[in-house]
Amino acid sequence: MKQIINIKTYAEPQQVCCLATVDNCKACKANDNCLMLREQLAFYNRLGISQIDDDIDTDSLTNIRYLWQDSTRTKKYDPSWNYAEDNTRAYTHPIHPYPAMMIPQVAGRLIDMYAKPKTVVLDPFCGSGSVLLESFIKGYDSYGIDINPLSLLISKVKTTPLNHRLLQNELEKIIRKISLIKKIDSPDFFNIDYWFKPDVTSKLAALRKAIYSISNERIRDFFRVIFSFTVRASSNTRNGEFKLYRIDDKKLLNFNPDVIGLFKKRAKQNIDAMTELWKQFKEDETQVNILNEDARYRTSIKDGLVNIVVTSPPYGDSRTTVAYGQFSRLSLQWLGFNGQSLDTDNRSLGGRLDIDNLHLGYGSPNLRCAIDLISRVDNKRARDVMAFYIDMNKCFVELSRIVKKGGFLCMVVGNRTVKGIQLPTDEIVADFGEHAGFRHIETIIRKIPNKRMPSKNSPSNKVGELGSTMTEEYIVIMEKTK
Ligand SMILES: C[S@@+](CC[C@H](N)C(=O)[O-])C[C@H]1O[C@@H](n2cnc3c(N)ncnc32)[C@H](O)[C@@H]1O
Repeated sequence: MKQIINIKTYAEPQQVCCLATVDNCKACKANDNCLMLREQLAFYNRLGISQIDDDIDTDSLTNIRYLWQDSTRTKKYDPSWNYAEDNTRAYTHPIHPYPAMMIPQVAGRLIDMYAKPKTVVLDPFCGSGSVLLESFIKGYDSYGIDINPLSLLISKVKTTPLNHRLLQNELEKIIRKISLIKKIDSPDFFNIDYWFKPDVTSKLAALRKAIYSISNERIRDFFRVIFSFTVRASSNTRNGEFKLYRIDDKKLLNFNPDVIGLFKKRAKQNIDAMTELWKQFKEDETQVNILNEDARYRTSIKDGLVNIVVTSPPYGDSRTTVAYGQFSRLSLQWLGFNGQSLDTDNRSLGGRLDIDNLHLGYGSPNLRCAIDLISRVDNKRARDVMAFYIDMNKCFVELSRIVKKGGFLCMVVGNRTVKGIQLPTDEIVADFGEHAGFRHIETIIRKIPNKRMPSKNSPSNKVGELGSTMTEEYIVIMEKTK
């Protein structure tokens, strides 16, 4: 018999239900009568994730759009955070491009706002290491976590002062060695001929051989970063795209990149960038710890060690937003990585729907509203969105363990639009934070200068299908109270 559930609003979870799924409902043990649980099941059924074969009236959710009220959290637009005209290329910040880099001024200002002597800073999605470099030059020890080996390499080199004169000598040696190399072992990875012209491949192979003969690991890594830049710049990929799209055939005919010239030019720029870092910080003992770990799970960082988290997580799953794995793949293949190291996109937040932890997404009323609206139009997309936020909430569980009571969490997020519904990510992460022992202090809204993100992206990951990306981002600031 069809059972109608007459509830008009979502009761707040902690008062009524433990938010467990039907198999492990812990609190009231009254599965058949628990309205919260039944409402939750109706919600999953709408998503097409059938938890139970039950006759639940999915229309019981129709009131939800009215529940999505204006936020009561402190939120303001502050133009002093825009930094549209400022120099974002100080020290080693510009040594390698990376999608959605954080502006150094934003990272530095957040650290200044909350740091005390001996503060430890964490960026659990460190990308190219902008937050780590800002912590380093301000004298605070830091930890950076990422699943992308290219990110870890760039972060390490960016925060390691090296003598610019040694680097200049090494550059000259590399150029001499290349002209002497007779036998070249070209790598043989899938589709190499599709992405590189034969002449480019043999020059890159010679360059790689010369770089890999450097015995000092730090210096070798410095040149590996320049090599990675050169791989991207001389590949058949389209300019200005983070995803892997090939230059069209007509343009490819006239595409003849000067591999060694590109390398030399970039090396000069990066040595110049390193000069200031070396002069000012050569004797600095500030530590930067870079961890090849996954922010969703328990990390090697000790309980309560971190005082400030400054981070910008991915905007959404890698299929429909920025694909860090695709961005890095050609560089990583040339740098000798394979297997799981190339699989960043599947391991990134939202890579797969964790069906056993659906309750981690359900806990945010803002997310429930958004998901419910999207699922009315496209429940596959709604599941992808849900997958991303479930993973995001797992990171909050871990942050709650490693951030000290009284510490701060500053998270820069974008409120992207899916199927015409703007996802209130700033509100959703504040919901997650509050469940994980943080108190929301304020959310600052800033404009994103066009140059940091392409103004259009491909939400469907199909060539030619464009959607607008965000023009503003939200800095959500919270304090750990428990
Ligand atoms: C927006 S980028 C960070 C950019 C960085 N703020 C910068 O300035 O370069 C997000 C990063 O999160 C990383 N990431 C995605 N899923 C992750 C996970 N599960 N654990 C750790 N890092 C992850 C991506 O590889 C990417 O480098």
